[in-house]
Amino acid sequence: MNLYPSIFRRKSTRRYESQPLPQQTIADIESAIKGFAPLYPSVVPGYRFVGKTKGKFGQGSFVAEAPHFLIISGQGKRGEKPGELESAGFVYQQLALWLDANDIGSVWLGSAKDAETNNSDNNNDIITLAFGKGAENIHRAQKDFDRKPISEITNAPDDICIQAAHLAPSGVNTQPWYFEKKADGVLVYRQKLKPPLSLMYKLSDVDMGIALCHYALACKETGKPFAFTRNADLKAKPGFIPFGVIA
Ligand SMILES: Cc1cc2nc3c(=O)[nH]c(=O)nc-3n(C[C@H](O)[C@H](O)[C@H](O)COP(=O)(O)O)c2cc1C
Repeated sequence: MNLYPSIFRRKSTRRYESQPLPQQTIADIESAIKGFAPLYPSVVPGYRFVGKTKGKFGQGSFVAEAPHFLIISGQGKRGEKPGELESAGFVYQQLALWLDANDIGSVWLGSAKDAETNNSDNNNDIITLAFGKGAENIHRAQKDFDRKPISEITNAPDDICIQAAHLAPSGVNTQPWYFEKKADGVLVYRQKLKPPLSLMYKLSDVDMGIALCHYALACKETGKPFAFTRNADLKAKPGFIPFGVIA
């Protein structure tokens, strides 16, 4: 399935019908997950489905009402193993787009916790994707995306792959990425968040993986190669942390 068109129409869905999706759809989701590209071949985040979560949702403190939640987990405590956070974003944004392409709504939830299974492995949980049939429109027009001007996230606003990354979702809509195009590749930076946001939001690396997912899908669409490597030794950029290089 081509996920690229969904980049330009998906949105976070926050109201769902309570009816669960058919069992066949859940089976289709599981087989779709098996086919998603990894960011790094050696880092494969795990997942499980749960029907109930607890925790803060949006600005309020109510629990998201969705029929399904997919909890993404790593092998180290809360994604402490290198590469797990951005891998979770990269792989499972493909699922968010796959769901959109199948007219199923979804929303990333940074603070939802599993309310069904209670075991020590929950410490490795990274992030949740709520999904189900929307009780609101789950698509939108490109003009309705609320994003920073593209000139704030790159020196190459005409680049199709960066335009796709520009539309990526991020926690609290922080859009922490910067893509600096050079003759021989693209340097990727992550914005340093300022307090109080930096104290409450720790998932910027997941956001980076999501933006890289959009970038990679645009490369695939336009027949360009995509390879990303983490690299902390890029030229310093005030207000940003070096993240990696796209070759
Ligand atoms: C890592 C991550 C965590 C998020 N956590 C929440 C959340 O806890 N509650 C919520 O309502 N939305 C959450 N969102 C959704 C963002 O608020 C949303 O993606 C952003 O505002 C952009 O809007 P859009 O997804 O409709 O394009 C999260 C998104 C990401 C990528």
